[in-house]
Amino acid sequence: MYSIKNICCIGAGYVGGPTMAVFAKNCPDIKFEVVDINEERIVAWNSKDLSKLPVFEPGLSEIIELVRGRNLIFSTNLKNSIRKADMIFISVNTPIKKTGLGAGETSDLRWVESCARQIGQIAENHTIVVEKSTLPVKTAQTIKDILLSSECGIKNKSFSVLSNPEFLAEGTAISDLEAPDRVLIGGDDNHAMKALNDIYLNWIPQEKLIFTNLWSSELSKLTANAFLAQRISSINSVSAICEATGADINEVANAIGKDLRIGSKFLQSGPGFGGSCFKKDILNLVYLSKYYGLNEVADYWRSVVEINSWQQTRVYEVIVKKLFGNLANKKIAILGFAFKKNTNDTRESPSIEICKNLLNEGAFISIHDVKVTEDIIKKNLFKNPSILNENLKLNKSNWEFQSNLYDAIKNSDAVVLLTEWEVYKDIDWDWVSKNVRKPFWLFDTRSLVKAKNIQNLGLNIWQLGNGSMN
Ligand code: UDX
Ligand code: UDX
Repeated sequence: MYSIKNICCIGAGYVGGPTMAVFAKNCPDIKFEVVDINEERIVAWNSKDLSKLPVFEPGLSEIIELVRGRNLIFSTNLKNSIRKADMIFISVNTPIKKTGLGAGETSDLRWVESCARQIGQIAENHTIVVEKSTLPVKTAQTIKDILLSSECGIKNKSFSVLSNPEFLAEGTAISDLEAPDRVLIGGDDNHAMKALNDIYLNWIPQEKLIFTNLWSSELSKLTANAFLAQRISSINSVSAICEATGADINEVANAIGKDLRIGSKFLQSGPGFGGSCFKKDILNLVYLSKYYGLNEVADYWRSVVEINSWQQTRVYEVIVKKLFGNLANKKIAILGFAFKKNTNDTRESPSIEICKNLLNEGAFISIHDVKVTEDIIKKNLFKNPSILNENLKLNKSNWEFQSNLYDAIKNSDAVVLLTEWEVYKDIDWDWVSKNVRKPFWLFDTRSLVKAKNIQNLGLNIWQLGNGSMN
């Protein structure tokens, strides 16, 4: 039996930070240390002003206030933390490989491998290493091989490797962590699995804990994300049929969602899924399938990603068409840059590609978001500028950030609603009707507004998936 008194988590990101905060809250007798190579991030996690935490999640700052300094610390002292730890969570990022074998599909494992090497060198006694990051199937074998080679011939050094994927969704991370649908523990060492199980028992009932072998656990995480993403691509593909035929996607989603076999969740059509996981995890599945010669399987899953890119392009094309095919000298207000509400995360946000395309058309775009900062938006628009016209330089003449929603909208020719932030539901459209250029268009990609209210004010509205508007 293993006794767990000190836990280290490598990676203080959107997963590592909130996850360890909830662990620390529910396990007051265990000491947690979250370490990261990014000093700036650690400083932000330690910031006295809780509005400066690097991750925004409803309910997170309250927990941080409770546990920080009590049994949770954030530091850059990786070596010391690894040495003390009885259990180490690997929660570093695993982006898609940019070059070489599997480029564009499989994950870049350099950071996971480097974590394993450091753990192998530094850890003392028995250490349970837990994969928290979502990883390609069989990564646990890589971690094991590296750890085993370092344990060779050294007394008092041994390891167990577990897979314990995180299913939290950003924006609801705290409630997902406090009351998950299930917790998956994959492994082949019963004692190590029991040790992790017992930690979760502090706040999660035993019937929610599922045990599998390592590979099932790794594959289950990829599959869960692929299924969720597939539902979104399915409903988005039907949204285009609705627009063509006069059907309404919300009526269709409601009707099919009442079938208990289908279920009502994850049927909201929109500008396409974003976030750091869906695209990356499906592409990993594509790569895995191709590796095993399952080309039809690879094509099937790849189409989920293709529909998603198509949906983003479709939204941009509609905007251009409705605005007479010309965006030069037009101001377009973009409402929402985060990939979903209640997060400051912009990774893979549909807003990025849509904004770049609008800039290419010569539009002036005024961007508002509730939590994303000007600096982050700027970095996103400049990052991978490939689709930006070569001569286009981002400067004050073609874009601005507005922290006030109404300043973003003022004098615009069109508003594009891209993130479903609650404040966008309460926009004073009467004010808008008096302060914009006519003919004005509202492009609502999240079904946030009542079309009639807009039309009664003499404004035009296009709602994604609502065919009655054509
Ligand atoms: C997520 C999930 O962990 C993973 O499952 C998913 O596949 C992609 O990313 P997330 O927490 O959202 O991770 O990523 P991020 O916010 O980028 O945080 C990762 C952190 O790890 C960063 O702060 C980075 O500085 C840190 N890191 C990375 C290390 O501390 N050491 C390294 O060697 C590499
Ligand atoms: C997802 C998974 O839900 C989570 O279990 C996993 O651990 C990480 O990946 P996340 O990406 O944080 O979580 O958010 P999620 O709520 O799944 O939304 C992903 C994207 O899908 C967002 O862009 C969202 O707007 C979009 N979406 C979601 C829709 O367009 N329609 C829906 O019905 C649901």
